[in-house]
Amino acid sequence: MRKIQIFDTTLRDGEQTAGVSFNLQEKIQMAQQLETLGVDVIEAGFPIASPGDFNCVKTIAEIVKESAVTGLARCVEADISRAYEAVKGGVAPQIHTFLATSPIHREFKLKMTQAEVLASIDHHVRYAKQFVNMVQFSPEDATRTEPDFLVKAIQTAIDAGAKVINVPDTVGYTNPTEFGALFRYLRQEIRGFDEVIFSSHCHDDLGMSVANALAAIENGASRIECTINGIGERAGNTAMEEVAMALHIRKDHYQAETNIVLNQLKRSSDLVSHLSGMAVPRNKAVIGGNAFAHQSGIHQDGFLKNPSTYEIITPELVGVSQSTLVLGKLSGRHALFTRLADIGFSIEKEEQQPLFERFKQLADVKKEVSDDDLRAMMSGHLYSDESFCHLESLDVHYNSAAQQLADITIRTAEGERLSGSATGAGSIEAVYNVIDKLMGESVTLKDYRIQSISPGMDAQAEVHTVIATADGSIYHGVGIDHDVLNASARAYIQAFSKQRHATLNTSEVEV
Ligand code: KIV
Ligand code: ZN
Repeated sequence: MRKIQIFDTTLRDGEQTAGVSFNLQEKIQMAQQLETLGVDVIEAGFPIASPGDFNCVKTIAEIVKESAVTGLARCVEADISRAYEAVKGGVAPQIHTFLATSPIHREFKLKMTQAEVLASIDHHVRYAKQFVNMVQFSPEDATRTEPDFLVKAIQTAIDAGAKVINVPDTVGYTNPTEFGALFRYLRQEIRGFDEVIFSSHCHDDLGMSVANALAAIENGASRIECTINGIGERAGNTAMEEVAMALHIRKDHYQAETNIVLNQLKRSSDLVSHLSGMAVPRNKAVIGGNAFAHQSGIHQDGFLKNPSTYEIITPELVGVSQSTLVLGKLSGRHALFTRLADIGFSIEKEEQQPLFERFKQLADVKKEVSDDDLRAMMSGHLYSDESFCHLESLDVHYNSAAQQLADITIRTAEGERLSGSATGAGSIEAVYNVIDKLMGESVTLKDYRIQSISPGMDAQAEVHTVIATADGSIYHGVGIDHDVLNASARAYIQAFSKQRHATLNTSEVEV
């Protein structure tokens, strides 16, 4: 079996998804989960972009011990030194530098000749080599680059000391036949192909990013760049869960394996979906809600006789375990913490009491507490960011024939109580009008989504909000509660809380 390395860029390219931004706490949580998941390299951000991004990469490099941590840098000395400053505290620091090579980027974006591009690659890879041995070079827009010039660019990077060559399909333009052939061509033309790691980085504009990554593996790539749930710029990136599972289920064909701990996939996907506010479609391969649901009678009959008739991936394999233990208000600590461990959460002693109390509150309003409720409870427990302000009380007066009225009290981190009331055409509008007044900030509500966490009348609601401030910055908030108005208020307040948090995080450079 060949070993295929997994390079995760959820925290960098994933954060380039429109409407998504992560704060430091969220990035740390994801990085720790990526480490548990077994990824080989975490691209933690783009350090020159902002002090906030620099701090995220630096903190993650210092915390993560099992995965290598890298930071992105343009072929610019200041970017490369900044990336090094951010990753140098890590166990295995790496620098990822890139420069576009395609004619359209050379002419319109860079205004550089071929010779200038080659000189810049040579200079900046050598510059990065002063700091770390593991220098990765990416010829951006490789798949629209003249093949002979691509060979020259890659050869220049290797001769200057690059240890990893990543071949990006930046605009999601290629297809498996073409991408496979490109790797074969590079393998034939590049001196020292086998001495460096060749990697793929595919975007999903034409829906082929996973197939393209697998074609790269079949033709010489030994590393795949990907993101959890396939989030990323425009239509997103290669979805890690799909590549890892394809290699596992079809090892007869690919003869390759990864270090990914497959039963951590569902948990990783839930976390990224929760923090990014990007819901996973029910029919999503590998980890979607319907991935294990059998609808037709013929399928159900076959499945009951032998699950393998219609199921190639078991729920347990991705970490969706089927439990017969029903948790409710009579359940004790042992049952709760055993079940949490079964679904992948090991809880430190000091965290147990507040969690148990939260569980009891939940069980008071829900007859049965499902695994999905527990995951939501854990996300609320671990990932809520109401550090700058939180909802203290909410009172809504509903009148079907008139405007709705909401009274709200918010408590700030300094302990100050802010109270007010407002009306609106609907209850949520009234609630949001009060919060706007109390926060004293003019924002636009870009997105509001509500979904139920489990079936049943007593299901909890999960609300996601996206707000945009006057300067165009985007913040996402999530609120979970058995009451939709409470969940809506908390989601909105959390978005404001993050906006206050993010003063450090203003982006200065765009990728
Ligand atoms: O899509 C792309 O080309 C990138 C590079 C920076 C690797 O994200
Ligand atoms: Zn990309």
